Amino acid sequence: MSKKIINARVTFRNSPIHILEKFTIRDVESAYLQFRKNSGLEECVIIQTCNRIELFAKSKNLDYEKIKKTWASIAGLDQELFDENLQIDENDKAFHHLLKLTSGLDSMVIGEEQILGQIKTSITSARNIKASGKHLNTLFDKAIRIGTRIRNSSGISQGGISVGSMAVKLAEENIDELKSKKILLIGTGEVSTLIAKSLQRRGYNFVVTSRTLERSQTFCETLGGKAVKFENVLSGFENYDVIFVATTAPYFLVTFDRIIKASEKRKDGMMILDLSNPRTVDERVATIGGIKLMNLDQIAEMVEKNMNARLNKVKTVENIINEEVTVLEASMKRLDAEPLVKDVFKNIDSLRQKEFEKAISMLDEKDEKKIKIIEELTKAVVESIVATPMNNIRKASEQGKPDLLEVASKLFDYNKKEQE
Ligand SMILES: NC(=O)c1ccc[n+]([C@@H]2O[C@H](COP(=O)([O-])OP(=O)(O)OC[C@H]3O[C@@H](n4cnc5c(N)ncnc54)[C@H](OP(=O)(O)O)[C@@H]3O)[C@@H](O)[C@H]2O)c1
Repeated sequence: MSKKIINARVTFRNSPIHILEKFTIRDVESAYLQFRKNSGLEECVIIQTCNRIELFAKSKNLDYEKIKKTWASIAGLDQELFDENLQIDENDKAFHHLLKLTSGLDSMVIGEEQILGQIKTSITSARNIKASGKHLNTLFDKAIRIGTRIRNSSGISQGGISVGSMAVKLAEENIDELKSKKILLIGTGEVSTLIAKSLQRRGYNFVVTSRTLERSQTFCETLGGKAVKFENVLSGFENYDVIFVATTAPYFLVTFDRIIKASEKRKDGMMILDLSNPRTVDERVATIGGIKLMNLDQIAEMVEKNMNARLNKVKTVENIINEEVTVLEASMKRLDAEPLVKDVFKNIDSLRQKEFEKAISMLDEKDEKKIKIIEELTKAVVESIVATPMNNIRKASEQGKPDLLEVASKLFDYNKKEQE
């Protein structure tokens, strides 16, 4: 393949949550501009979830140092951190990883559905602002389709435990008589929905808060719980025994000072489960007596233990992915030939059209039926002459033989610039 497609990623597999969050790209739109301008990337797609920050990119001349430098400046961190945390894959390995993502095999909860939605959102926004182009759009469209098919045929997504249920289970395991405790849920987004569903299913009473009371009220109408005012919660953490936090707030909501004050007013301990990434609970609260803090890392450990049913299906999914990667790789290589093939077809067709019109004018033919027959004849002749060499060029490209593409470009006087 003349161009490389790479995946550069920092994920929960290699990096603990407090390191992972450092790599977060806050202004994705501006990051796309910088990656393209400063790292020489022709196309890019950024995927960010609570468990991963990933960059897929296409370039003819990849320079990993430039990519790291740009990423480091965007996220405001030391380039050295990349050496320990960044994983990079190229071409077929990058495709393989993307299929693992879309099929749910690389997720913390294997087979979970959310990642597929997150990938769809990432490629849609990259496409809308033209950060991605023909190569990554095709790659992602295909990978999403393949991933969905794999999930349906293998059943890897069925019967799973959500991050929300995991968090509730963790609370159950750590707290005696959870039913008698005062439970608070901060957040009304996707993860909070999973937590609320799990609490509701298990018959727990809980209160919910988010910045707007109306939003919490609407949330509680469908998911249970009782809405409470955000300001009251922030100034009164002492009223709760268990706090689930799942927000995208860019700062700590549950601060050290607020919890110190709360704990002074309480005689019992408190458990705080922070599902947010970046975290919204200051980890120093764990140093306060009686406060038990758990975050996504601990939930990850628990997920590992609960994975057995789905783990049985992992081997099957891996085998399907291995087969699909070969097909995906061939389609991506074929893309290299498409601009040339299109250009040749276009040029030959315009010649055909010119000669056809000249002939009709010389014949002074007015009969529409005859004109149609002559036109079809010119098309058929052109098609039968051009189709075989063009298919051979496509095949050579699929098989990773760029030489034929080079020769064809010379033969057809193809302007290479259009391939970029
Ligand atoms: N989605 C996943 O698969 C997944 C899994 C595990 C963990 N996580 C992490 O969990 C967190 C929540 O994810 P999500 O998918 O539920 O997000 P989401 O659907 O976008 O919801 C975000 C929530 O954060 C609240 N929020 C945003 N800014 C806030 C602020 N400044 N102060 C207070 N609340 C604020 C929003 O409340 P308002 O109504 O007030 O805006 C909303 O309730 C994220 O940190 C994410 O990384 C996500």
